[in-house]
Amino acid sequence: MTRRRKPTTSGVRVGAGRARVAASILDADLGNLANAIRRVEAAGADRVHLDVMDGHFVPNLTFGAKMIKALRSRTGLPFDAHLMISDPGRYIDEFLEAGCDSITFHVEIDGPKEPVLRAIRAGGRAAGLAIRPGTPVDAVRPYARLIDIITIMTVEPGFGGQEFMADVLREKAPQARDVLSYRMFGGEVHVDGGVNRETAELVGALGSDVLVVGSALFLRGRDMGREVRLIRALADEGVQYALNDGKPPQPSGKIVGFASLPRRFAEELRTELEAVGVPVIMLRGDGQINPDGVRDYELMIPATVEDAAIERFGPLRERLGADADRWREELLREQATHTDRSPAP
Ligand code: DX5
Ligand code: ZN
Repeated sequence: MTRRRKPTTSGVRVGAGRARVAASILDADLGNLANAIRRVEAAGADRVHLDVMDGHFVPNLTFGAKMIKALRSRTGLPFDAHLMISDPGRYIDEFLEAGCDSITFHVEIDGPKEPVLRAIRAGGRAAGLAIRPGTPVDAVRPYARLIDIITIMTVEPGFGGQEFMADVLREKAPQARDVLSYRMFGGEVHVDGGVNRETAELVGALGSDVLVVGSALFLRGRDMGREVRLIRALADEGVQYALNDGKPPQPSGKIVGFASLPRRFAEELRTELEAVGVPVIMLRGDGQINPDGVRDYELMIPATVEDAAIERFGPLRERLGADADRWREELLREQATHTDRSPAP
């Protein structure tokens, strides 16, 4: 697939908080979507949320894969597709082809869900399941290991501009988090419907990762950029007070050093971290030079998983550190004997 990605400032936004805003263009001027996408990007939204409706799963029609494909080249922002259609499997290749970065469909559809989720994953994209307000979170549990995203609908899907259902989110947010908890990194809870400056703090306080915001961004006379910043800041404030003991949330883009080890020890630790979904950057750092003349490697991980990684892999890190010390000593001993044995000049 060819994809022209414009450089964007949103890829690396160190310093921004934890919450991400996905702008739904459902309530934009549909006659000028390219302009809506441009505005959303200029406003600093983190992603574009695309609501696909088939007039069957929901009583409304919007657009399809062809339209998404046409918009793809207009922005470098990730595309989150939200398919409110009865038969996503039938069109899944088209949505992959269109360049969606994540594809979420509804758990309430009649057909089999597993092959569709597998197809999305096989396409290298994030796979998600959305749940209507009346559907229990337990409905997605059987698919836990096949999904990257759970979208909690806080309105009945079909239309923008409806009222936020706070009780639905209060009940479901912790359950959704629990479904995704088998992985240390990468699972996302999205909240879709009625998110605005009035409701963002609660959404953040309940630990949501992505706030889908539609009509609130397209209100006449409001500055879209300010709205995005306000909603993100309010959500982060919610995180700070409700989940994070008053500490500011870790910026999603921040990475920290986790260990500095000789190569083969670093590789062992990296394998363990990656096995639980933690993305690791392994760098030839400026660490100490070992007796074999090679520097230690640095393992970098997202700051958001640092505490969990220390809890889970702290002991392994210590053991590998001790092993590395022994290995260094041994090498030095060998080198010393080698020098001893070498003939005198
Ligand atoms: C509703 C859609 C939402 C909608 C959100 O079916 O899934 O993404 O655009 O719009 P607001 O933010 O206005 O509720
Ligand atoms: Zn949506």
